[in-house]
Amino acid sequence: MSEKVFPKDFMWGAATASYQIEGSPLADGAGPSIWHRFSHTPGNTYNGDTGDLADDHYNRYKEDIALMKELGLKAYRFSISWSRIFPNGKGKINEKGVDFYNRLVDELLKANITPFVTLYHWDLPAALQDLGGWTNRDIAYWYTDYADYMFQRLGDRVKNWITLNEPWVMAFVGHFMGEHAPGMKDLYAAFSVVNNQLRAHSKTVKAFREENVKEGKIGITLSNTSHDPATDSQEDIDAARLAHEWTNYPLFLNPIYNGEYPSGIKEHASVFLPHNYENDLEEIKEKIDFVGINYYSGDLVKLDTKSFLGGKTVERGLPKTEMGWEIYPEGFYKILKGVQEEYNPKEVYVTENGAAFDDSVVNQEVHDENRIDYLKQHLEQALRAIQNGVTLKGYFVWSLLDNFEWALGYSKRFGIVYVDYKTQKRIIKDSGKWYSQVIKNNSFNF
Ligand code: BGC
Repeated sequence: MSEKVFPKDFMWGAATASYQIEGSPLADGAGPSIWHRFSHTPGNTYNGDTGDLADDHYNRYKEDIALMKELGLKAYRFSISWSRIFPNGKGKINEKGVDFYNRLVDELLKANITPFVTLYHWDLPAALQDLGGWTNRDIAYWYTDYADYMFQRLGDRVKNWITLNEPWVMAFVGHFMGEHAPGMKDLYAAFSVVNNQLRAHSKTVKAFREENVKEGKIGITLSNTSHDPATDSQEDIDAARLAHEWTNYPLFLNPIYNGEYPSGIKEHASVFLPHNYENDLEEIKEKIDFVGINYYSGDLVKLDTKSFLGGKTVERGLPKTEMGWEIYPEGFYKILKGVQEEYNPKEVYVTENGAAFDDSVVNQEVHDENRIDYLKQHLEQALRAIQNGVTLKGYFVWSLLDNFEWALGYSKRFGIVYVDYKTQKRIIKDSGKWYSQVIKNNSFNF
């Protein structure tokens, strides 16, 4: 067997998220989400773009699943829009919202594609934001009630569940930097959001165990950037380590696996954590079945006493994607190896990896060699991680379709399938055709 082959049963997939692709955010009785509000507020998104139409996936899901089938995907990761199910975030149920996800799941299963469901990918019901959103401690109950309801309705067919997508981004980009919904700039709020997301996550994992979903697995998806020290000075090494503990998997996995925040956070940022947060840690420490790793990029970190937690990024001249993010495949290996060494999860999935490039359509084709290069280099590192003991079970490319890239609107394309937003026509990019060969050969070497 060639050493370039992935393990048998490797789960090849693609990922999306509700607000980024569905469109029709208020259809069939759904309530508004914080992203609906945020994108409709002038000045918040590139070009004033909103998710009103997006990829019109809400109406075209069958066509999209046919595309997935054509690509040969074995798995599909999507998220549920909480406010389609509970328009007010809690209380009254909107059966038509449940219907949509029932139809989606059934269609996937018919196509032999395994659904991976993310329960929360940033589109909080706006009604809950009016009650303080993730800064309100009660959200642990609101969220668990919603999640538990989804286990009851879809658990007979959906076996793989992700509680939260990138809680770091929700907390800090949404509540400290103000660039994402709900658009707040309050560091204390951001840390309370970290703590409440952890509470909500673990409470939901407990509810999941009680529901006894047959063969069900549950995990969490975390964002990661490979932070390397800019020099070998102790100061820069410490700054890079702190950046790692703050922005990567340790901020969430240390409480989940060890019942405490990472040491650097305790030392430098505990003042920002909610009063008496220590009392929550016992409840937060709760076994999960897998860890979802999202990885796009790396950076070099230098000590900067003026910035929060003392780190700043310095240029190292690596090629970049259209997002301005460094292409640093080696960092992917470091993150995968790191999570296994530090927390030893039973299973790891790469729940997102991919790149935005300035694609153009030429004679109904998209020749995105740069994306193929990016994906290939990262798959090489994923395989290297497996060969070095990482329990990696699957890989989801971000994204199936070009979509609403949050504050950057439709200006950045991540899809392996091109979407013409005016006509809603889909074109499988060269990277999509290439990925489909990867799946078929269980290898990037063909
Ligand atoms: C998110 C996606 C996003 C992607 C590219 C991740 O942070 O989970 O929703 O589109 O990265 O920015």
